[in-house]
Amino acid sequence: MWVLGIESSCDETAAAIVDAAGNVRADVVASQIAEHAPFGGVVPELAARAHLRAVVPVVERALTALPGGLADVGGIAVTQGPGLVGALLVGLQVARAIAWETELPLVGVNHLDAHLLAVQLRLGDGHVPVPYPFVSLLASGGHTALYRVDAPDAITLLGQTRDDAAGEAFDKAAKLLGLGYPGGPVVDRLAAQGDPTALELPLPMASRKNLDFSFSGLKTALARHVADHGVPSSERELADVCASYQRALVEVLARKAVAACVQEGIPRLTLAGGVAANRGLRARVKELAAGRHGKVATDAGPTPVEVFVPVLRACTDNAAMIAYAGALRLARGERDTDLSPFSRDPRRERGKFRRDGTLVRR
Ligand code: KG4
Ligand code: ZN
Repeated sequence: MWVLGIESSCDETAAAIVDAAGNVRADVVASQIAEHAPFGGVVPELAARAHLRAVVPVVERALTALPGGLADVGGIAVTQGPGLVGALLVGLQVARAIAWETELPLVGVNHLDAHLLAVQLRLGDGHVPVPYPFVSLLASGGHTALYRVDAPDAITLLGQTRDDAAGEAFDKAAKLLGLGYPGGPVVDRLAAQGDPTALELPLPMASRKNLDFSFSGLKTALARHVADHGVPSSERELADVCASYQRALVEVLARKAVAACVQEGIPRLTLAGGVAANRGLRARVKELAAGRHGKVATDAGPTPVEVFVPVLRACTDNAAMIAYAGALRLARGERDTDLSPFSRDPRRERGKFRRDGTLVRR
């Protein structure tokens, strides 16, 4: 059964046709990056308006992949949250209208669940499905967290950022260095040519035993460096700053991701979200997983962590992951009638962290 998925939570309007086995028939993404770039970040109202313009053509294009168009679709999945509410409403209303007209079953999808399950999409040569359970590091522009995924409908939050998301930390660094938006890909490219030991930066919470992250201190350290020394004027110096900053960020992400596998006794790690595109992160995670600290105690003895990285277009925002997560819910017989958007993940603990790391619930 083909499921039509619609995604509009942030700055990508996307539609896809996917089944519950992860086969992808269509995967259409219209990016709004150019509209937000002058502002150095996503402007919520502009995003909502751009979704409104793009959503119908994007859905129509996805449907051309099926000979019968909408008549060949068996269900509809749409991102319900977390995301920008005005942006989410556009996708939700279109999905509801199509479901109402066609009487097709409809489900809302948690955008973060979809990111975690995207690794199962049959995209790219030689794709192998990841056996459950696995640990996943989700690092994107809006979220950075570690999860234990026992099944598509059994996901546990293990740790999360207490302030900025990793992608946000990349974007803010790029802004400070005058590199434009989004920052991740530019910093990644420059870092490859620089010396990661050129600048000494803090490794925030790297040695703490818990699986939480914090990136605002790192950003402040860079801001201080720029205030003291100015924006690097030579390409070489710029590359050194990017390499040092990326190294600090990546080191914490990689160490905690591998530590999560060891803690949970699960020798499988997947990467998800836009930051999973980062070459430094991919390399460091694989290095640590293959090393001394990457051994997980299992019934079969100490087992090295196996790392699974989805193809690039499955990491960044897309509707194929929404359609897939929705297809699994539909296959379980689930349906949604109340589809109000939500801006934050219901799994995320609400409260404030004390200095000792404990959470005070609100
Ligand atoms: O998952 P995503 O497409 O959208 C969200 O749901 O947020 O992630 C976008 C984020 C941006 O912050 C972007 O700078 C970052 O992912 N990103 C990268 C790279 N490519 C994208 N960060 C580091 N290295 C990259 N190569
Ligand atoms: Zn996302």
